[in-house]
Amino acid sequence: MAWTLADIPDLHDRTALVTGATDGLGLETSRELARRGAKVLMAGRNPTKGDAALKRIRDEQPTADVTFEPVELQDLATVRSLAQRAGAQDVDILVNNAGVMGVPQGQTGQGFETQLGVNYLSHFVLTGSLLEALRSRPNPRVVMLSSLAHLTGKIDFDDLQSKQGYKPFAAYAQSKLAMLMFAQELQRRTDRHGWGLVSAAAHPGFATTNLMSSGSKTMARLGGAVAPFFSHSAAAGALPSLLAATRPDLPHASYWGPTGAFEVKGPPGPAKISRRAADPAPAARLWDVSQQLTDHPFGEGA
Ligand SMILES: NC(=O)c1ccc[n+]([C@@H]2O[C@H](COP(=O)([O-])OP(=O)(O)OC[C@H]3O[C@@H](n4cnc5c(N)ncnc54)[C@H](OP(=O)(O)O)[C@@H]3O)[C@@H](O)[C@H]2O)c1
Repeated sequence: MAWTLADIPDLHDRTALVTGATDGLGLETSRELARRGAKVLMAGRNPTKGDAALKRIRDEQPTADVTFEPVELQDLATVRSLAQRAGAQDVDILVNNAGVMGVPQGQTGQGFETQLGVNYLSHFVLTGSLLEALRSRPNPRVVMLSSLAHLTGKIDFDDLQSKQGYKPFAAYAQSKLAMLMFAQELQRRTDRHGWGLVSAAAHPGFATTNLMSSGSKTMARLGGAVAPFFSHSAAAGALPSLLAATRPDLPHASYWGPTGAFEVKGPPGPAKISRRAADPAPAARLWDVSQQLTDHPFGEGA
């Protein structure tokens, strides 16, 4: 039988941190975690949108324990500060959800290509900064948002920042492949070092959100034209994330998505991991490169 929202267990003793929680999938994920009693720290870059998101949830659920946590994922100083605040509040579920797609070429505060920086490297640092806090909690869980785009993605170790010819969608696919590789590698390292985490990944298929509008006008127009036929709602798109964040008996390093044709929509279930994403050697290399780039040692002996 397909997993549904009714399968989410009671979460009154859990605290979740969701990035990109002010809109789209992150807002839906936060709403359902809060509905089951979790304390939810909703991280985003826009306080006005943050207030609106809190109001939407509180209007529906007056007793919801939700707060807004500011973070600009283009700036690792704010990511580290978020980790400190969240760690002090006993976070045990981390949903690395925020992302942008197909944006014009740009750089984050640390000089990373925008999509690699926002979608992946910021979450690498957030997870690493929260590692000790997560480990101190019972059954900690980390969920990475990937995408069907990972199937076409390649990690270009010779030009990770896409300086030699920027293709917006290729850079997006690289960042989403990196997230899936990160989820797999985090599980391998937690098993090796006894960190006690369960690391999982999820993708929403094609969900109607603002993501398309973060990229080019052509992409937004194309997305708008096909969405009525091939997409499902943000609420439906959030189900794989919710499954990955809350199912008690989750297999290690699992990947979840819609189970309809081509995993574009449908009820949540196991998703296809590309050979590239499952290969341990490039994932270990990406981990080491990410530590060097962000100057962020990730756990003792990692
Ligand atoms: N929708 C889909 O069909 C689809 C498909 C595959 C994968 N995904 C993945 O799902 C995740 C959520 O996307 P979505 O569809 O829900 O998109 P969305 O509606 O555009 O929401 C993205 C969220 O991320 C936040 N965000 C973006 N850049 C940020 C930054 N620099 N610092 C802090 N927060 C930032 C946004 O804040 P603002 O509103 O302030 O910009 C927003 O809250 C992404 O990782 C995306 O790659 C989505």
